[in-house]
Amino acid sequence: MKSTAFIHDLQTRKQQAKQHMMRGAVTEDYTSDREVIVKMLNEALATELICVLRYKVHHYTANGRGARDAAAEFLEHAQEEQIHADKLAERISQLGAEPEMNPAVLTERAHSEYHSGGDTVEMLKEDLVAERIAISSYREMIQFIGDKDPTTRRLLEDLLAQEEEHADDLVELLEHIDAQ
Ligand SMILES: [Fe+2]
Ligand SMILES: [Fe+2]
Repeated sequence: MKSTAFIHDLQTRKQQAKQHMMRGAVTEDYTSDREVIVKMLNEALATELICVLRYKVHHYTANGRGARDAAAEFLEHAQEEQIHADKLAERISQLGAEPEMNPAVLTERAHSEYHSGGDTVEMLKEDLVAERIAISSYREMIQFIGDKDPTTRRLLEDLLAQEEEHADDLVELLEHIDAQ
């Protein structure tokens, strides 16, 4: 026999679901501090967008030893960081907030820095540092979210896995140049 408590719960849930229908994915039981999560996601978005630009300029200006292989990798990473940025922007808007894309504030919010100039080895090292920063900030965000927002957590876990691959690719390229 179903407990009446459960039925009551179901009715409350239905009522709550109807109450603020236009909040879409954000339901009454969304326990996370929405503003903190959105702020965090906007910082990640700024970081990804800065990464797109840094990888793009590295792609177009790679020179010296290992330039050809690195240039191809830089382009691939730029495209993947753009996909990351889009996924973050989509989640921010799902949470009812505006994805911050104002160029004037991006560098302030981003966790990593824009870089241009130098030879391919310098570029690879700069990118590796940026990836390592992204890895540790995604890890921290995932820990903060815990089980409060499984969808955001899953998204960040996917991004983290790809940043780890990026870092790995860069180390390989650096080792390859060293071996030449
Ligand atoms: Fe990324
Ligand atoms: Fe990356």
